[in-house]
Amino acid sequence: MSSIDYSTKIPNNVNLAEDRTLQRALEQWQPNYLSWWNDMGPDGSQGFDVYLRTAVSVDPQGWAQFGHVKMPDYRWGIFLNPAEKDRKIHFGDHKGESAWQDVPGEHRANLRRIIVTQGDTEPASVEQQRHLGLTAPSLYDLRNLFQVNVEEGRHLWAMVYLLHKYFGRDGREEGEALLERRSGQQDNPRILQAFNEPTPDWLSFFMFTYFTDRDGKFQLCALAESAFDPLARTTRFMLTEEAHHMFVGESGVSRVIQRTCQMMNELRTDDPAKLRAAGVIDLPTIQRYLNFHFSVTIDLFGADQSSNAAMFYSSGLKGRYEEGKRGDDHLLRNDSYRILQVRDGRLAEEEVPMLNALNEVLRDDYITDSVGGVSRWNKVIEKAGIDFRLKTPHKAFHRSIGSLAGVKVSPEGQLLSEPEWNARVAEWLPTESDRAFVASLMGRVVEPGKYANWIAPPMVGINRQPIDFEYVRFN
Ligand SMILES: [Fe+2]
Ligand SMILES: [Fe+2]
Repeated sequence: MSSIDYSTKIPNNVNLAEDRTLQRALEQWQPNYLSWWNDMGPDGSQGFDVYLRTAVSVDPQGWAQFGHVKMPDYRWGIFLNPAEKDRKIHFGDHKGESAWQDVPGEHRANLRRIIVTQGDTEPASVEQQRHLGLTAPSLYDLRNLFQVNVEEGRHLWAMVYLLHKYFGRDGREEGEALLERRSGQQDNPRILQAFNEPTPDWLSFFMFTYFTDRDGKFQLCALAESAFDPLARTTRFMLTEEAHHMFVGESGVSRVIQRTCQMMNELRTDDPAKLRAAGVIDLPTIQRYLNFHFSVTIDLFGADQSSNAAMFYSSGLKGRYEEGKRGDDHLLRNDSYRILQVRDGRLAEEEVPMLNALNEVLRDDYITDSVGGVSRWNKVIEKAGIDFRLKTPHKAFHRSIGSLAGVKVSPEGQLLSEPEWNARVAEWLPTESDRAFVASLMGRVVEPGKYANWIAPPMVGINRQPIDFEYVRFN
């Protein structure tokens, strides 16, 4: 079951050949997907040979095979983790019952919504990143961008498989709509706002893959607990791919920092103007990008109090991060959680029923996880002997969703008046001129082994290849 059949049009490990109707429906969707990829996938890259990894099995060891592939020929397919025998639902009102192999009628609409919302982020990020190849800082980075892009494409396949297999005609219509919405387009945008923001430069890309792909990780982890077993198995395999995306982000930002610190020591200065003149990105600018991506991303978890979140949990559709490792009753009916609100002109915690606060629980788990990489970035700065530390901003900083939406709070968590905010926002969020400066550094470096001036080379190459390997061939 876990070995992947590559002999068919659509590679899969779900015995697709046994379900002719489904196979035909997906084979009809496939050319539409490819034409979406041609229109909205990486700009001008269709003829490149890219050193990509392809899944050959879903085993944790050795699922990947590496080789130069033209991206439109990438074998997108349907890969589920193997079924767990007699899997039981382990949270919510159905706790202890057998996991569902089909969609219960009463949860159909909600499950469809959950799958469509997740599915929509996948092509959206490809669209957001489609011009970055034109300004890649190296072949190594270009290859990583393309690897992320083809895997996001595969994540779309993963969700469309579920829609086609379990949701009949509605599911097929949703599958088409996923190819029709466009990131940032006014009349038919992507569903979630962070996926309509442009990713204009490589610092944004690295921040996005560190912070926003990590949101993906947490959403997928919560869905991997689902009582709907096919969703759980699909998202488990997606998580193995997601890990690479976060690696691209964390190591990318780390290399930018490393290069900046090197220049700071060389020039013996921390003056942003001098560093910019030397062609590197000053640390305060990196902090502003971090503030932006962190705050936009934590909005993705939704309102801090949500009756939908309670219902998704109680009905078994979506669990918590690492549900199985928690020692509580997995029902949460009598539990409470503290959320942050503005009360009498101050930020104050308020106790609310836990079930209603599950978006906030997931957001807080996310915040804990994302702080880890930031402290690894700080190690790079510390090692260079520089007295500067990056910080994730306060949870209430620059929020647009939930009870903190629109509240003016500094990155340190101080409540501000509108004029105070306006006077200092340029210190905290990327300004037009920050973005213009970063954009000015973005030139295309594609000679094997060459790296743009603003970023350090990686420590090691991909799949034990050297860092001057020809990761992309342009033909
Ligand atoms: Fe994804
Ligand atoms: Fe991702």
